This record gives sequence, C-alpha cells and structure tokens, in this order.
Amino acid sequence: MIPQSFIQELLARVDIVDVVERYVPLKKAGANYQACCPFHSEKTPSFTVSPSKQFYHCFGCGAHGSAIGFLMEYSGLSYPDAIEELARHAGMAVPREEFSPEMAQQRKLAASLTEVMARAAQFYKQSLKKTPRAIDYLKGRGLTGEIAARFGIGYAPDDWQSLRETFDDYEAPALSECGLVIDAEPSEGQQKGRRYDRFRDRIMFPILDGRNHVIGFGGRVLDRGEPKYLNSPETPLFSKGRELYGLTQARNAIRDDGFVLVVEGYMDVVALAQFGVGNAVATLGTATTPEHIHKLFRQTDRIVFCFDGDRAGRKAAWRALESALPELNDGRVASFLFLPTEHDPDSFVREQGADRFRQLALSAQPLSEYLLHELQSRCDTRSAEGRARFVSEARPLVTKMPAGALRTQLMHLLAPAVGLSAQELAEALGLRLPRRSGRFNAPPPPAAPRVPPSTPARKLLCMLMQRPALGGRIGHLENIEDDPWLQAVQAVADSIEHGDIDTRHSAGFAEHFRDGPHGPLIDEAIAAAIEDPADEGALPHMFEDTLQHLRRTEISRAINHLTALSRQSPLSAEQQAELGRLLREKART
Ligand code: CTP
Ligand code: MN
Repeated sequence: MIPQSFIQELLARVDIVDVVERYVPLKKAGANYQACCPFHSEKTPSFTVSPSKQFYHCFGCGAHGSAIGFLMEYSGLSYPDAIEELARHAGMAVPREEFSPEMAQQRKLAASLTEVMARAAQFYKQSLKKTPRAIDYLKGRGLTGEIAARFGIGYAPDDWQSLRETFDDYEAPALSECGLVIDAEPSEGQQKGRRYDRFRDRIMFPILDGRNHVIGFGGRVLDRGEPKYLNSPETPLFSKGRELYGLTQARNAIRDDGFVLVVEGYMDVVALAQFGVGNAVATLGTATTPEHIHKLFRQTDRIVFCFDGDRAGRKAAWRALESALPELNDGRVASFLFLPTEHDPDSFVREQGADRFRQLALSAQPLSEYLLHELQSRCDTRSAEGRARFVSEARPLVTKMPAGALRTQLMHLLAPAVGLSAQELAEALGLRLPRRSGRFNAPPPPAAPRVPPSTPARKLLCMLMQRPALGGRIGHLENIEDDPWLQAVQAVADSIEHGDIDTRHSAGFAEHFRDGPHGPLIDEAIAAAIEDPADEGALPHMFEDTLQHLRRTEISRAINHLTALSRQSPLSAEQQAELGRLLREKART
C-alpha cells in the first residue's frame, strides 16, 4: 500500500494543469482550462481542468478525476503506476517500506527488468547503425531513418552472445526473466546449460508500455528464415494479450483523426506511419482481446480493424468482432476494412497511397453489416434449418453486447434475414427489446438528466467540494443513516477534523475516498462544483443556511419520531432526555 499521506503530499506538489498539458493542449477559459475531450470525440471543448480543484471534468461524457485519475485513464496506467509516474515528474520517491515484502520484491524486479530492456533496446539501435545490411533492408522496405528512430527500430547482431557487449554480467537472471536470452538444457555432467541470445540477426521492433518503457520486442528475419517474426515471451513486464504495438506513437494521431486503425503487423504500423497514416496500432501476433479493445476505446470511440485480405486475416477479423461486442456501448463504433486478397496495409499504402487508404478506412464496413454478411455466408437462410442455425449462431454474439440502441438496431438488421420481426428474433434470442422501438428510425429516447435532483445534502457536499475549508463548521450530524449524501458530508467533515487531507484542493478528497462508498458521490460533487459553481461571495452564507436547514429538518424528524413513539408506549428515561435535548436544540436553531 502507498500511504495516503504521500498521495496527499503528491497531489499538493503537482499541478493537474501541467500534467494534462503534457498530453492535451489546454486553453485558458476563465478560472479553468479547456480542451476537446480526449476521452470522446467532440468539436467544441467541454473538457475542463480546474486548477483550484485540481480536478478535470468533461461536461460532455462525464469523465472526471484527479491528476492520478487522468494518467490512469489517458495512459492506461494502473493506480500505483500512475502515482509512480507523477512522483517521478515531481522528483519525489514513492515510499516503499509499507509495501508488503513480496510487493516490494516485485516492484524491484520490474524496475530492474525495465532497465535491462532499455539497455538492450539501446544496444540494438546502436548495432543497426553499424550494420549496412540491416539498414539496406529497412531502406528496401521504404523506411526513412526518421521513422526508424521514431519507432526505435534496431538490429540484433548475427551472433550467439552479442548481448555480452552491453551487459557486464551476461549470466544475470534478469536477462532470462526479460526473455532476452535462452538457457539451453544442461548437457550431461553440467550444472547449467549454455546461455544464448534469443534474437539473432533480426530487425528489432521495441514494444512500449504507457510509460514509454520498453517491455518487449518483436524481431523480424532479414531474409528468409523461420519464424519470420519472433516475439518476446510472456514476462513480468510483457503480456501480449494486453499490449498493442505502436500505441504510444499513435496517440496524437488517433485523437486528431478521431479513430484508431488496428492492423496485424509491425511492418504495417511502421509503413503506414511512413506514409503519413499515424493512427495505426497492431496486435502482437495474437488475436485481438477484449482487453485490447477496452484499452483502445479509452483513446477514441471509433475503431477500424484492417486485417489482411487472406484467410488468416478473415479469421482475425472475426475474433476481433467477438472481442469488440461486449465493449460496444452506445456511441462507440467498430468497423472492418478488408483489403484485396493480395494486400496487407503495408503493401496497399505503398501501392495506392495514403489518401486512398484513408478513404477506404473511412468507408469501412460497420460491424453490424459484417456480422450479418458473415452469418449469411455460413447459413443457408433459404431453408428453415439454415434460418434456425443462423439464429443459434447469432445468439452468443448478440447476448454479449450491452443492452442499448446498437443491439436493438442489430436486431432489426438481422431479423429480416431469417424472416422474423425484430421482436420475434429478440424473443428467440432470449432478449427483450425496449418497447416503442419498433420502427427502424425510431427517435432515440431523451437522455436522462445527468445531474440528479438536488437535495440539501447533495448541495452541501457540492459546496463543500467547492471550498473544502467550510467543512470545519460541520461537526456532528444527526440521523445520517438513510442518506448517502449526508454520510459523505460527515465523512468529509471527519477527515478534515483528523487532518488527513490537504483541504486546499478537493482532488485530495477524491483520492482519499477513492474505492470507498463515498467516492462516487464526492467525485460527482467536485464535477458539479466545476460545472455549476455557486457564487464565491455568497458561498459561506449559502453553506450555513443549507446546514441550518438540514439540522432543523433532522431535529424535527427525530422529534416527530419520538413523539410518535410516545403515543404507543411511555418513553424511557433516556428517550425523554433525548426529546428534551432535541426540543432545546430546535428552539436554538
Ligand atoms: N507474426 C508472428 N509470428 C510469425 C508470423 C507473424 O508473431 N511467425 C505476427 C507479427 O506480429 C506480424 C503479423 O503477425 O507482424 C503479421 O504477419 P505477416 O502478415 O506474416 O507479416 P507482415 O506483417 O506482412 O510482415 P512482412 O511484411 O514483414 O513480411
Ligand atoms: Mn507485409
């Protein structure tokens, strides 16, 4: 565990405006800063960063959080990694002693492996410079030095132990833990097998994580040879089901273009970038996983899958469709671009140019259509048996999707293919269609108001998040059991009393109560304080009034409760004393 006190100190030391600005250019707008939201696509800025609250909030999509939350969302970092990253920039060391010994061990290991990988990447880059044959290969594939540098491309020498040159201790366990070397089985009479480099005579593509650390490599043979591509094995740093090649380099282009392209190969990503199509990423010789999709939908709400025109490409596309379905909340779009059979994105963009490629990407087949055509090609819907099979193949797919407008539309699209109404198909699939959506072009239901009706308790929390110092006036509240907003107010007041939190910025509260029951309410209150702040001058008075009002209502409620009880049976001495206290309180307020 990272101590809360450190997190509070960290939040006080960093400025969220600087943190966000590293990734998203901000414009000053009154007391806040604004930009087009990096978490959904929009034309007018509704993403707001508040320096006084140290919190960001998007009026459009509701995304919000502290500097820590921003790094988690934007760079896909875990909570401890986001803290680590912020601390590094602020020149602070995350206290380690409170980690459990195993965790401390794990962190230390990861840090030392990261260092080893960085060193290896550096070595491979240097050896590329010294190897004309490798340079010629890249040139032959149309790559400039600039693009090679941007992707950190290197070359692993044609030698069994070339890494000896850069690592003083070639026998160090870290080298095998990162997958850079392989330990051969010991032959008879030997304690330990000979160790050799995993990557030899290969073009090396480093794979980066959200922090720009090298976590793995893909290596391609220069000429013919098997396997054509060799990837790092799964290591403590690298898990190919989670990582995407080129995401770091593509981030800005994804935002500018409003979509991400998912392709199959390292060379596809690099060649597309060479031709000016910068928003491509690749899976790493593995099927697209739901985790990949989740990661991508954090960057943009449009994914275009572009797989090779061959059979393997078709198969990969179908796997991608299956992985995408659960993530298709309304507003998100996945589509599929199938290139002519003889092409992959690399050869296509080379032959036909970037404009033509981009054009195709923008007119890619929507997922719903692709799904329909694929099912139709698998089942002969002219026969009853074929139509039944169509329905049973559709079932596991459609039920994976979140309920929403897209699923409803899909039902309308699929139903005619099997001679059913959308309603009948939904029933056959065990789903319920929302009523009144019978027509294809039925208007969408009006959006639910995002801000719930304001109760005095909610108002109190919002004002408190606008100026946390007011919390000192709260003290003890009565009867909070039934109202989560009041409970949150009380929790905030208590934490201020204990001096747990830096009250200058409300972000400190968001972090202090992260993951607890009050967290979501506190986040919402901070967002409301940014979106619709109370008049600063009137704030103390309004706060006092609301608090008074609440106290009075609570006291009246308690009095009513006791008097109702007294009508049924005489009150105990304690209850009588309580009633007396309440009546006096009421007279005072
Ligand atoms: N791949 C792999 N292992 C292999 C072959 C392929 O991991 N033995 C993965 C790599 O990520 C590769 C992708 O699958 O980039 C696509 O493979 P392929 O279409 O064969 O390669 P290309 O990307 O076309 O590579 P190139 O153009 O360099 O031949
Ligand atoms: Mn290729």
